[in-house]
Amino acid sequence: MTETAHTTIHRHDYRPPDYTVESVDLRFELGEDTTLVRSRLALRAAYDRSGGERPLVLDGHRFVLRSLSLDGTPLAPEAFQVSAETLVVPSVPASFTLEVETELRPQDNTFLEGLYRSNGMFCTQCEAQGFRSITYYPDRPDVLSIFTVTVVADRERYPVLLSNGNPLDRGELPDGRHFITWHDPFRKPSYLFALVAGRLACIEDSFTTCSGREVSLRLYLQEANRNKGGHALRSLKKAMRWDEETFGREYDLDCYMIVAVDDFNMGAMENKGLNIFNSCYVLATPETATDTDYQAIEEVIGHEYFHNWSGNRVTCRDWFQLSLKEGLTIFRDQEFSADMESRGVKRIADVRYLRTAQFAEDGGPLAHPVRPESYMEINNFYTATVYNKGGELIRMLRTLLGAERFRKGMDLYFERHDGQAVTIEDFVQAMADASNMDLGQFRLWYSQAGTPLMEASSSFEAADGVFTLTVRQSCPPTPGQPDKQPFHIPLVVGLLDRAGRELPVTLFGEPAPGPTTRILEVNRAEQTFHFSGLDSEPVPALLRGYSAPVKLDYPYRPDDLVLLMAHETDPFCRWEAGQQLAAQVILSLVADQQAGRELKPDQAFVAAYRAALTSGEPDRAFLAEALTLPSEKYLAELMPVIDPEAIHIARRFMIHTLATQLRSDFLAVREACRSALPYGVDDGRSGERRLANLCLAYLMSLEEQAITELCIQQYRTSDNMTDTMGALGPLASCDCPERSQVLEDFYRHWQGDRLVVDKWFSLRALSDLPGTLDDARALIGHPAFELANPNRFRALVGAFSQNQPHFHAPDGAGYRFLVDQLLRLIPLNPQVSARLLAPLTTWRRFEPGRQALMQQELRRIQALPQLPRDVYEVVEKSL
Ligand code: PHE
Ligand code: ZN
Repeated sequence: MTETAHTTIHRHDYRPPDYTVESVDLRFELGEDTTLVRSRLALRAAYDRSGGERPLVLDGHRFVLRSLSLDGTPLAPEAFQVSAETLVVPSVPASFTLEVETELRPQDNTFLEGLYRSNGMFCTQCEAQGFRSITYYPDRPDVLSIFTVTVVADRERYPVLLSNGNPLDRGELPDGRHFITWHDPFRKPSYLFALVAGRLACIEDSFTTCSGREVSLRLYLQEANRNKGGHALRSLKKAMRWDEETFGREYDLDCYMIVAVDDFNMGAMENKGLNIFNSCYVLATPETATDTDYQAIEEVIGHEYFHNWSGNRVTCRDWFQLSLKEGLTIFRDQEFSADMESRGVKRIADVRYLRTAQFAEDGGPLAHPVRPESYMEINNFYTATVYNKGGELIRMLRTLLGAERFRKGMDLYFERHDGQAVTIEDFVQAMADASNMDLGQFRLWYSQAGTPLMEASSSFEAADGVFTLTVRQSCPPTPGQPDKQPFHIPLVVGLLDRAGRELPVTLFGEPAPGPTTRILEVNRAEQTFHFSGLDSEPVPALLRGYSAPVKLDYPYRPDDLVLLMAHETDPFCRWEAGQQLAAQVILSLVADQQAGRELKPDQAFVAAYRAALTSGEPDRAFLAEALTLPSEKYLAELMPVIDPEAIHIARRFMIHTLATQLRSDFLAVREACRSALPYGVDDGRSGERRLANLCLAYLMSLEEQAITELCIQQYRTSDNMTDTMGALGPLASCDCPERSQVLEDFYRHWQGDRLVVDKWFSLRALSDLPGTLDDARALIGHPAFELANPNRFRALVGAFSQNQPHFHAPDGAGYRFLVDQLLRLIPLNPQVSARLLAPLTTWRRFEPGRQALMQQELRRIQALPQLPRDVYEVVEKSL
């Protein structure tokens, strides 16, 4: 039975639960054929019964109901009603026990929601609403309860039996089965419930908290991967220490468990005391994982750990408040990573992601505020808007309040709401109370969708040394929100003189000299700021640290940008200047390409680029960021009508131009960055590797035999996946005879390692070469392709849909390929299918030909009988 009722849920319809669950006892009997779940709920009416009795309504679906009894007496069939998604008991006492027995088939559960099997193990995924496919329950985050869970399974096949909290009891059963009972002393909503059973290896460590309690740390994985969990465990300990030092947050249980599973819809899940992770965010060795993989693991481990306070101890009242935990936790993990790595480089990476993924959402048919007003399927709202823009809002609060008052606000929030299910409003209120600031206007960031545009202009009065900055803000209409009110925006600015020196930023009428950086509070549609005490016209550094998630438009001249590239102190602004310069040049090449004009190198840009390349900038990772041209996706964001072909050609032309003119510089920088020392995970050389591989990628665009040989040599001699991929990426796009040999060799060598095979699929799907679509089609038939494994599907089909020129092939073949594959995936996994539809939903941004082709493909999906809710919502809203 699938659910095809497509109702919309509105934030304003929120009502507190009628019945709360005092405690819940679960007993799972895991079987190869059927799994039995017995649940005993202690329920209590939470409303005033003098106004009449209300029915008990529990959520549940996708299982067989075996029995139902109330206070020990089986319920007669006429005493309850079962519908597609609920159980209703019209008349119940004020306080009672309900026992429910359900029968499940986890081995057939391809949705990967609720209880399912992955690689011979049982595991669960209950956020957002997976618990209701295990048993009947008030499956909503504001019903918190104490869970006691007994897991029973065959001792041989499932020696490891886990659930949340601490083990209470264990024992053998006569039939070869055994059991363990777990008890979680913290009240929690059902979405944080977890269970795992399997034959798993365990690596252990321990952590002593700031108050001296010893916590046992356990990481469970497949025996074959036993050597791949060290980095994740080390990251966990770093995260635990960091949260104590930065936010005063201490861990609260005696053990912390992490389990790696191969089949997982998302990245990882913060279940109380028992995190379940997509194995791609756990497993790493130097031979199998890149530097970027290592960093992502550290960040996701941190993210799930930080949820223990921002999400678990204080949770969400309802799913409209999702950003309460996700935005806040993204902010916390970004800060953690910034402290572990290079802060500036981390900020740039986060901005890059926001400006591609999130801006596209804000500009498309599914645009929604950080706190949405309505949804059909909550799974569709785990978005870059809720997560990453939500994180930016927290960052802006910190900027506006200052670090100290922000920390006071965080402390107040945790103290005030510990053990509660609360709203975003409660969070903002804690910030306002702790700082005595009026955050009334700031709250609009949570309710208005769309990316604000800030148009700045300036003038200089040489006679009195006053520089005037005028800022206008506006926000384009988004679905359901034609008009927007002005936002409260922290605009962090600095001023540079023509020699690149930082000047004091003195607001007119204030005592001079002011600080060299300052926060302007923009809160009206148009505002003017006057800066005094200036001898000559300064170059403004605007939006330092990317202080607000906006698009900024300021008429910089190319020489202003060159000056900022060389001298600006804020890494984001320094990087951004280079990106703007490059974007200006590439977009003018795009126009030439569209007009059929010959493409010509821009010598001023080449000179600026050479200066950066040979600058000896000590932060090599920063330099690599600075030397990376804006992505095709970001360039697309900047165009009124996206022309993927012209963007691709223009950007390739730039790369080729730079490689041709700076060939020896690229070779020299690469050489200087390479090391004879063996690879070390924390050897502090990831920036060098990144820069060296960037140089190689540029050089490979020359399609020169000597360079290809260099690349192949790097592949053959590499002792780590970073350099291996650094060579393979460019080779995959190189039309040379060695290409297929090397790709074959890589596959043969790594076919036993799922995560590396995923990389191999992606490499091929992301290739520039003309035959890429045919290759992708052929790979669907490859024995290693697995439709039902989300990582594998994303590695091939998801990656292909990110390949701008091929996905957007003018004849629509790329779109058709995506939809052909989604039509197969939808019945198996609607949640992942709906997410992978995103690239088609932006059809309005293209020219009429592509628009029609994209819509046509969306309609093929729309025509399916019984469209699952997840997919229905995306298709309906985007057509
Ligand atoms: N709550 C998880 C996180 O952000 C994400 C997630 C959502 C995972 C839904 C699985 C299902 O860490
Ligand atoms: Zn999260």
